[in-house]
Amino acid sequence: MQIKEIATRPFDDQRPGTSGLRKKVSVFQQPHYLENFVQSIFDSLDGLSGATLVLGGDGRYHNRQAIQVILRMAAANGVGRVLVGRDGLLSTPAASCVIRKHGTLGGIILSASHNPAGPEGDFGIKYNTANGGPAPEAVTEAIYRRSREIERYRILETADLDLSRDGRQTLGEMQVEVIDPVADYAGLMESLFDFEAIRRLLAGGFRLRFDAMHAVTGPYAEEILQQRLGAPAGSLLHATPLEDFGGGHPDPNLTYASELVEIMYGEDAPDFGAASDGDGDRNMILGRRFFVTPSDSLALLAANARLTPGYRDGLKGIARSMPTSQAADRVAEKLGIPAYETPTGWKFFGNLLDAGLATLCGEESFGTGSDHVREKDGLWAVLFWLNILAARGEPLETIVRAHWREFGRNYYSRHDYEGVATEAAQGLMDALRKRLPDLPGRTLGGHRVDYADDFSYTDPVDGSLSRGQGLRIGFSDGARIVFRLSGTGTEGATLRVYLERYEADPARQDQDAQSALAGLIRLADELAGIRERTGRERPTVIT
Ligand code: G1P
Ligand code: ZN
Repeated sequence: MQIKEIATRPFDDQRPGTSGLRKKVSVFQQPHYLENFVQSIFDSLDGLSGATLVLGGDGRYHNRQAIQVILRMAAANGVGRVLVGRDGLLSTPAASCVIRKHGTLGGIILSASHNPAGPEGDFGIKYNTANGGPAPEAVTEAIYRRSREIERYRILETADLDLSRDGRQTLGEMQVEVIDPVADYAGLMESLFDFEAIRRLLAGGFRLRFDAMHAVTGPYAEEILQQRLGAPAGSLLHATPLEDFGGGHPDPNLTYASELVEIMYGEDAPDFGAASDGDGDRNMILGRRFFVTPSDSLALLAANARLTPGYRDGLKGIARSMPTSQAADRVAEKLGIPAYETPTGWKFFGNLLDAGLATLCGEESFGTGSDHVREKDGLWAVLFWLNILAARGEPLETIVRAHWREFGRNYYSRHDYEGVATEAAQGLMDALRKRLPDLPGRTLGGHRVDYADDFSYTDPVDGSLSRGQGLRIGFSDGARIVFRLSGTGTEGATLRVYLERYEADPARQDQDAQSALAGLIRLADELAGIRERTGRERPTVIT
């Protein structure tokens, strides 16, 4: 087996975003494209020689080919050992778990999350560091800089490895250990939640449906929900991972998980429904004919955490992204623990978790997690809910309504305007930003403006400052409107408008969210001129 040095030239589009490098599959299929980026990762890491790395992905199209290339390059670059998920599979939270459990230098995760897969779809690659979390900006910038000047990469010339059987093999001087992608993760879940109580709940006739959306969580759900917890056959939907995710869009929300939603709102609906996304880090939670907003889910997990073995001793703090509803803050206040408001994106939680300042964290965009790993975690949220349901023995809706009675309800919705002309979206934000200083003290649509600002965040751990994270208008009655431009959209700009209204009166907690928020929706349009500036009569997606 020979190490080859292959001459190459830089591509100019390899700057990783917050979720790694994401591009069309056809971009990754260009000769040297993947290799350049992988070599740039290796060149940017300290201590690579002889180190152990974790490798796996969400199983989408191009996953298998890419894994083989990365293994050959790792061997040629002096990596000591690679732990690779069987068949090249590892969910994002499971990869984080394996990195932490085995104390590896880091890991490479192949995923484009919930983006469609297949030859016409997307592919992605990201590097996670030794804490199990996404590489910080200093590392991703170093990788990008390297990719701009790369002239050659190293790769071993050899045949593909068989990754379908667990166990050790060697590739040149490097050890390759094919691991069960589920085992470490399932063990971690079993240490956090009362599996015995959940088993009893399911044995007692409680019915659940989990939708893996033909993506990576299928095998995890089979092992954990069916094998270990005894959920009967038929509890899982779309549990076989497919390279094109069955042609679907594996994003767990009311629009894309419509089959599950139909079941949960149909005749004879099960007690509990949940779904996860392409790489297993997002979650959606449903009760019988009842949707739990991700913001409420975070608040309820926090309020009930002591019912689970893993969080029995209480929480150190709760962190939420700024646009996430303030429901969790009320729980933190009652528990007497700190509440953190961070910019959008999971990376801001990592420092708080590492420093032991927060235990739970979440985003309105269907992401919830804790300090057990350094990624958001879909199945973890599902098991957390099942543990609470088993411990309380009440229907999910009853538990949520009781929470609202105690803490008040934060009606919440996000309106997305996708594919808006970039200039129009920028113009809208600029004009609104200019108006903000005039707003405090004024009464708009019956709500008195308490503060209006462009959100900035000083990281309490490293002191770094992040500006321009979204325009917030906070009202003294707890209502809030937030405007932000998406950082992950691919075509034009996506304007996100986050709407929230607080209702303390139990007699008025029963409305449909869009009606309850109608006044604020109108006000958002008046303040920002959404229809006029975007030319859109209504949002593309409402969650
Ligand atoms: C979106 C979500 C955000 C999440 C990110 C990555 O980002 O809103 O909460 O962290 O995807 O999954 P956005 O497109 O809003 O920048
Ligand atoms: Zn994801």
